Amino acid sequence: MPDWQWWQRGVVYQIYPRSFQDTNGDGIGDLRGICERLDYLVWLGVDAIWISPIYPSPMADFGYDIADYCNVDPIFGTLGDFDRLIAEAHGRGLKVILDFVPNHTSDQHPWFRESRSSRTSPKRDWYIWRDPKPDGSPPNNWISNFGGPAWEWDEATGQYYYHAFLKEQPDLNWRNPEVRAAMHDVLRFWLRRSVDGFRVDVIWHLMKDPEFRDNPPNPGFQPGRPEIDRLLQIHSTDQPDVHEIIAGMRRVLEEFEDRVLIGEIYLPIERLVAYYGQDLAGAHLPFNFQLIHTAWNVRELSTLIDEYEAALPEGGWPNWVLGNHDQPRIAARVGAAQARVAAMLLLTLRGTPTMYYGDEIGLAKVEIPDDAVQDPWEKNEPGLGLGRDPERTPMQWDSSPHAGFTTGKPWLPLSPTYAECNVERMRSDPRSILSLYRRLLALRRERKALSVGSYRSIGVFGTAFAYERTLGAERLIVVLNLTHEPHLVDLSSQGRLRRVLSTCLDGEGDLVEGTLDLRGDEGVILESVG
Ligand code: NOJ
Repeated sequence: MPDWQWWQRGVVYQIYPRSFQDTNGDGIGDLRGICERLDYLVWLGVDAIWISPIYPSPMADFGYDIADYCNVDPIFGTLGDFDRLIAEAHGRGLKVILDFVPNHTSDQHPWFRESRSSRTSPKRDWYIWRDPKPDGSPPNNWISNFGGPAWEWDEATGQYYYHAFLKEQPDLNWRNPEVRAAMHDVLRFWLRRSVDGFRVDVIWHLMKDPEFRDNPPNPGFQPGRPEIDRLLQIHSTDQPDVHEIIAGMRRVLEEFEDRVLIGEIYLPIERLVAYYGQDLAGAHLPFNFQLIHTAWNVRELSTLIDEYEAALPEGGWPNWVLGNHDQPRIAARVGAAQARVAAMLLLTLRGTPTMYYGDEIGLAKVEIPDDAVQDPWEKNEPGLGLGRDPERTPMQWDSSPHAGFTTGKPWLPLSPTYAECNVERMRSDPRSILSLYRRLLALRRERKALSVGSYRSIGVFGTAFAYERTLGAERLIVVLNLTHEPHLVDLSSQGRLRRVLSTCLDGEGDLVEGTLDLRGDEGVILESVG
């Protein structure tokens, strides 16, 4: 049997550090808070944590605007706290993955300050500076991902700089070898501090068209969509030479043992799989966000899984994601009952699952009053429902004031349901979604077929679909009902089966002969008993 890597067998849990656990009463989570909750994560049964950015930052984009790549923002703690977190996590068998944000820095980063100081600055070419068109307008029509033009005029030096996100987030020029070397050293800085890998922010953005041609209009643009959708991003992202840049990062990781490179990529499957790289020398895991964007019905989901499996390059390891700090919560999208089915789907598909903090307690969308809005995207393009605050609200630990997250005023409001929807309450309820997640994680650890076994689609049965996971003699069948209506599923061709786990958390051990009586919103894992 092949020797599986930890990042193939394991489950990643994303922590948005501002919202996980505050220990100093400022209403914002911190590294000590994460340390305090490591035992919970072990109890839950995940294998690795990915922590969104913790570096010094003016927080224009909540840490995705970095002013120093090799330190910790005082809001989150110190490098000493970070070292302690790594030691405590490793001591418990948990891996730690950091966010690496190479596409842009903060405009307060010393590199950018120097770059903008004059046209002859030695760091001028570290960023993307261009002359205006003869009429003074920006060099091309590119749009910022947060709305408005992607070019900012610099009066002092008479040029524009490019920013794919906020104007406070100027893009680095990855065509400059000095930038590459400096960023590789950033990776080494953290790798030497024993981090187990990186999730690389907007990795498909790193290279831009060398001629900076205009992006064409998007014929499918609909009013009410974000402004960035007006254009097809064919010249500003996903350039062929980005793969060499990623391979360069990968080579740095290979200087160390057992590290993982995960890339954030929002592209359709056929483009996404290119990010495994030539000879798999790219990202180990190009994040697969397809579950987030696919309609929640059997036809679309089962087709998606088969298409993704078929598109993977030989030896490319799959992965699945249901949510993150940029996407509406899964429980808000599919409802509380289907969120349980989604949990079973995520944790029984072939490949590495990434969970988002709070999904395990069924945290749903939290309404944010206008005067509490934090997200710069919501502020730039209000009223379109683009804001990401609703999925970034504090973790709910118990029924005490502020849900045990902070003794101060939380930076974002808590869900009004926190008295019921919290870890402490749900831990003691054997039927809660938290108990389900824990059971699924334990089962995945115990039954290797679920983590590293092969995948085969069994088919669609009305409102349900089924697939098989096999490893050696172990064969498990997963059947998921994607609606509230009950459904009889004919499994007579599958031999004798026994129920192992249901999203309803009952019926374990019962034999299934021929037909499975699937309740509405139920998912079931069955084992083959000959
Ligand atoms: C992707 C991150 O996930 C998102 O939160 C951020 O705003 C952009 N990249 C810009 O860094």
